[in-house]
Amino acid sequence: MHRFTKAVSSRRAFLASTGAAALLAGTGFTLPASAQAGPREFRLRAASGKARLVPAPYPDTAVWSFNDSVPGPEIRVRQGERVRVLVENALAEETTVHWHGLRVTNAMDGVPHLTQRPIAPGETFTYEFDALDAGTFWYHPHQRGFEQVGRGLYGPLIIEEAEPVEVDREVTWVLDDWRLLKDASISNDFGNMMDTGMAGRIGNTVTVNGRVPETFVVRSGERIRLRLINAANARIFGLEFAGHRPQIVALDGQPVEPHAPDGNRLVLGPAMRADVIIDMTGDPGTRFQVTDAFYQRLEYRLLDLVYADTALRDRPMDAPIALPANPLTEPDPAVSERHAVRFGGGMMGGGMGGGMMGRMMPGMRHEGVWDINGVAARGHVMDPMLTLTQDRSYILELTNDTAWHHPIHLHGHSFRVLTRNGAPTRFREWQDTVLMRPRERVEIAFVADNPGDWMFHCHILEHQAGGMMGVIRVASSA
Ligand code: C2O
Ligand code: CU
Repeated sequence: MHRFTKAVSSRRAFLASTGAAALLAGTGFTLPASAQAGPREFRLRAASGKARLVPAPYPDTAVWSFNDSVPGPEIRVRQGERVRVLVENALAEETTVHWHGLRVTNAMDGVPHLTQRPIAPGETFTYEFDALDAGTFWYHPHQRGFEQVGRGLYGPLIIEEAEPVEVDREVTWVLDDWRLLKDASISNDFGNMMDTGMAGRIGNTVTVNGRVPETFVVRSGERIRLRLINAANARIFGLEFAGHRPQIVALDGQPVEPHAPDGNRLVLGPAMRADVIIDMTGDPGTRFQVTDAFYQRLEYRLLDLVYADTALRDRPMDAPIALPANPLTEPDPAVSERHAVRFGGGMMGGGMGGGMMGRMMPGMRHEGVWDINGVAARGHVMDPMLTLTQDRSYILELTNDTAWHHPIHLHGHSFRVLTRNGAPTRFREWQDTVLMRPRERVEIAFVADNPGDWMFHCHILEHQAGGMMGVIRVASSA
């Protein structure tokens, strides 16, 4: 597989201009007047287009994107606002948009056939929801996600706190991983059996905000709030900021007690987000590497932090970094009903019957390779694996019976991660996507306070397509 090396690229600072303004530039994305009453209105148009993912001499890459931009435009609103998004489908196939991590009403969740009729080519669908929780979220199609997201359909969705923490600069990095051919075109082998049964579609070109990054310019003394979003189909990131001590202040949009990542490596599975506060403690004119060291022996340099020649201030800012809590309902451990959920399948799982080989049949592309509680999903409409009662507390005991990592996502709710392999987690973090290691056991707890049929699936999109998906029904008490 060809790898796009940094050597071919110019030393231009692609990331010197990030943030909303840069993302909005040239996207035809209009912000409504702030004084306007009623919902904040946005328009997204899904269509095929071109993007300059890799620098010259490579050509542009044919992509599918929102508003002709990869990532799609940043949707940014204030907590408590109502949001309306008109999604026009200019693709040649059906689509939907899912607002990942947002606790929307079920009909607005963007799951084809389960919560809505898919948006046909040429049609427009209007989504409307309240921005309940402040934080870092994102949006992407839920129809054939392994190809639609993989070709570039995704974008950041930021909900600002009423009183954000004080920083010098706020930056969003949407990370993606592409499998490109030598002519910089996207490899068409979506959904192949090898990717599906193993680690998913791992690519050869990592982008930050749709570009192969080179440098990111910072200033001594600067405090940055970095919002990281993993939009890759399958790649797990393990970011290390040489010479720096990033503090995690939110995971999957939800505030967490500020802390340094374990071993100073920030691990982010597909669909997961982290907000980190980084004090730029280097000297003017110096340079530090940001590396991704998640996969053993496949470590690479993501980009360099490059210090400008003049300092912003002499010593780091002295201001609290903890974020205000979101209005989540605390699960009651005393009345929690427990359910066991087992994730199975894939290659090298041990045991032919439970492994993929036993399920492979001629002509079958990628279905039925993975399962939850023994059931492999074939599409989004299925009998609920669990039926929960609205407003009751639940603990799910998740067991990864496979040889692979799985980032497991629940729609419509955030949950607390209570234990890993029986040991309590340090921060009981709220997440909407929990990364499970091979063979790991994880307990999560939440209040089933959002009625409807909600997807519960692996966010390695090839695993999802291969069957690792279920429906959890929250039966309305009304
Ligand atoms: Cu990010 Cu079911 O999706
Ligand atoms: Cu998986």
